[in-house]
This record gives sequence, C-alpha cells and structure tokens, in this order.
Amino acid sequence: MTRIAVLVSGGGTNLQALIDAEKSGIIKSGRITLVISSQPSAYALERAKNAGIDTAVAYKKELGSHEAFEEKILGLLQEYKIDLIVLAGFMSILSENFTKRYPRRILNVHPSLIPSFCGAGFYGLRVHEAALSYGVKVTGATVHFVNEIPDGGEIVMQKAVEIKEGDTPEVLQRRVMEQAEWKILPAAVERVSADIISEKEV
Ligand code: GAR
Repeated sequence: MTRIAVLVSGGGTNLQALIDAEKSGIIKSGRITLVISSQPSAYALERAKNAGIDTAVAYKKELGSHEAFEEKILGLLQEYKIDLIVLAGFMSILSENFTKRYPRRILNVHPSLIPSFCGAGFYGLRVHEAALSYGVKVTGATVHFVNEIPDGGEIVMQKAVEIKEGDTPEVLQRRVMEQAEWKILPAAVERVSADIISEKEV
C-alpha cells in the first residue's frame, strides 16, 4: 500500500474526492496517511479529521521563511514515510530543492488544460477568469507530475470541459471540478500508486 500525503490550502473538495475514492475502492493501491495544510483555517483540515486522517499545519507566516516552510513539510513526509505527495488545491510553489527529492512522486491537479492558463500566477478562480476572458470554448483539468517548473512537469491525465454561454468564473470552476478534477485526480493517484507498488516489487 502506497502511503499518500495530501497537501492543501483551502476548501479541500479535491481532498474529499480522494477520501471518497479511497472509501469506494477507486483508490485501492494507496492510503491517505497525512494531510498537511499551508493555512491553519483551511476547511480541508476538518474534512481530514472527519475521515480520521492525521493532519498537520505548515504556516509560512509563523515559520518565517519559505525554506523553513519546506523543511517542516519535508520533515513530516519523512516521519510518515510518505511515498506519494498529492497537491490538491495547494497554493504554494515548491522549490527545486524540494521537488528534486521526489521525482515522479508529486502529483498536482490544475484547473485548465495545460499548457493553457498555467504557471506562476494562475491558480484557483484566476485560471477560470483567464479562460473566460480569452474566450476559449473548451477548458478542463490536468493532473501532472511536479518538477521545478510551475505546472511544467509531465502530464499524467487530462479531461476537457465545455464552456457555456454566460459562464461566470465560479460556475465554470464548479463544472471543471465536478466533471474533471474530482474524477481524474483519484484515477491518477490510483494509477501512480499502483506503479509505485509494482516498481517496489521489481
Ligand atoms: C481547485 O480547482 C484546484 O485545481 C485549484 O484550486 C482549487 C482548489 O479547490 N488549484 C490550483 O489552481 C493550483 N494551481 P479545493 O481546495 O476545493 O480542492
């Protein structure tokens, strides 16, 4: 069983999708072992506690620097012997010093079809605002491995979502979550977890 840590910053609907997928057996090769939030007030922490999952907070403001923030997270990942890290609405960019320690072991979900509307500055609702103001007719979500380039790692899964006349960023965000993110994130986590197990067996 792959030991999974989920890193969050906000509402945690993607975390919830992972918790539900583990319960329903869509995720069968891994277990969510730890949830780390960059925000002490994130509702995602409640979702984790309700599911009986250990939680921790790494709060940059309190820790004083980005380096200390990453060191805290790295310490927790070691303590919990984490094999796979999932960024699910995690609103901080990890440095190369961090990402190089976990090659092909960090997944991120991004709410657009990469390489559109991605990279530094494109997060949360801003991504959907950008898609609407550009006027694209199709958007979607991407799950990719995380490397030193923001949203630049190898793509694992993508799903397209139609944009409709009159969409607001909020309406579009919800549709992208429901039709794409909450489906491809659990599916990708299962696929990569199963791959990690088969690599260990070799
Ligand atoms: C999701 O749409 C996620 O894809 C996005 O933030 C939202 C978090 O929602 N992430 C990014 O924009 C990262 N660049 P959640 O907390 O309910 O899962």
